[in-house]
Amino acid sequence: MTKKVGIIVGSLRKDSFSKRLAANVASLFPEGFETAFVDIGGLALYNQDYDDENNVPAAYTTFRDVMKEIDAVLFVTPEYNRSVPAVLKNALDVGSRPYGASVWNGKPAAIISQSPGSLSAFGANHHLRQSLVFLNMPVVQQPEAYIGNVAELFDDRGQIKSEGTVKFLESFVAAFVDLIKKQQG
Ligand code: FNR
Repeated sequence: MTKKVGIIVGSLRKDSFSKRLAANVASLFPEGFETAFVDIGGLALYNQDYDDENNVPAAYTTFRDVMKEIDAVLFVTPEYNRSVPAVLKNALDVGSRPYGASVWNGKPAAIISQSPGSLSAFGANHHLRQSLVFLNMPVVQQPEAYIGNVAELFDDRGQIKSEGTVKFLESFVAAFVDLIKKQQG
């Protein structure tokens, strides 16, 4: 059966490098896998009062329903102030509640961090990993994907110019596919 990979991007910016990178990576999945971007921009800031079943924002319900149909999650994110952008942390929090009904539990995940700088959003990558440990998501360990100098990565059509980076991302997707198969058959 086809596996569904949800792609969650930690940037809402129209011309986001993360989105461009994610679109390139989406095209590298093999037959038997389909990818879909999951919107996190419409989620109100998490408030525990919304755990009350009579008080749940419609966007929370839509997001949780979409995530329940997804087999694995690819996170592609920039770094904000050496950590994960708030919009991404908010989506993790919304999906993790109400207690006992987390949409993340047990789902295989993979993380790509990117930056126009050379440190490649290492801080965001590892803060995200820390949350995924708690959310009980098995994460691709190797290869780690830190994409630096991202502003120079794409051609005019938004395609990755560097053959070496494409090859690296192919190996990254292969490791993710292996993890998904190991977890789910
Ligand atoms: C940044 N940026 C940034 N970059 C980085 O490598 N480390 C950091 O800690 C930060 N901090 C940071 C905070 C805030 C509030 C903004 C808006 C930006 C720069 C960031 O990497 C750059 O804007 C990327 O282009 C954002 O990714 P998208 O939107 O292109 O996907």
